[in-house]
Amino acid sequence: MEPSLFSKPRDLFIDIVNPKDYVQIDSVSHMYQSLKTSVQKPLKMILLYGRPGTGKSMLLHKLHHDLSKHQKVCMIDIPIIDENDFLRVLAHKIYSYASRESLSLTNFLELSTAVNYPVTPIVLLDEAQLYSPSLMEKIRLISDARALKFVITLHKTDNEDIIAKEHFQTRIWESIELENASYEELKIYIQKKLLKANCFDVANMINDKNIKLITKLTRGNYRESNKLMFALFSLYTWYEEHYPSKIKYNALNTKWIEMAAIHTGLIRA
Ligand SMILES: Nc1ncnc2c1ncn2[C@@H]1O[C@H](COP(=O)(O)OP(=O)(O)O)[C@@H](O)[C@H]1O
Ligand SMILES: [Mg+2]
Repeated sequence: MEPSLFSKPRDLFIDIVNPKDYVQIDSVSHMYQSLKTSVQKPLKMILLYGRPGTGKSMLLHKLHHDLSKHQKVCMIDIPIIDENDFLRVLAHKIYSYASRESLSLTNFLELSTAVNYPVTPIVLLDEAQLYSPSLMEKIRLISDARALKFVITLHKTDNEDIIAKEHFQTRIWESIELENASYEELKIYIQKKLLKANCFDVANMINDKNIKLITKLTRGNYRESNKLMFALFSLYTWYEEHYPSKIKYNALNTKWIEMAAIHTGLIRA
């Protein structure tokens, strides 16, 4: 069987976060630069804020990837909900301190003074809306003591996560808000992703009208766009195998984009 033209582009849009897949988009790179500048400042906490699917985890992973060459940095991408585990896991990851019992805050701070890194270690906490207020309070105390710096991400929801947000407002450090992509940004995102993987033929099939429709359907949300593109190229892969004559190579098929949107729940059929 001929290798499929569409299976590679399809797999590019699987919704995973890998800093190697980071695509440079002007506004995002700008955010990333201010994030990198912020972590060098004596700020104790930095907040990355935005709706689900706006690229918060991606920026956090990229930061981890870039910083870990130069300093101690620790990524907690799956929240450690249990308060007793939290300090124990951090102590292990940052100070290589193995303990079976939970650590008190005092113990933890003593440990941090004893180890004394040349630059303050950075902890990256993804999905911080899942941490309890009392655990957030501990995190604040650790950063106030300048034992660690924290970069945390927080989901913005429709009915605003009031508790979390208030908690953060009173302790402002620095806050960076990520947004959905504009039409131009989504165009760059999709094109760069395809070109990086040498999918030139498929990249050439996508015209501005296609991108307009995709932006309209996904509102420029990166995760929704990934899902839509994955479903769309799955459809193309299927046609390629069963009815190749139905495929037109001059543009993406509008009907199929709509079918993919129905499939991913973006349109109600
Ligand atoms: N700058 C980018 N480059 C490449 N992929 C990105 C970029 N921003 C977001 N993505 C992709 O979009 C999807 C959603 O991003 P993610 O970071 O998981 O969003 P969030 O954490 O805000 O919900 C992921 O699959 C991610 O890989
Ligand atoms: Mg995320």
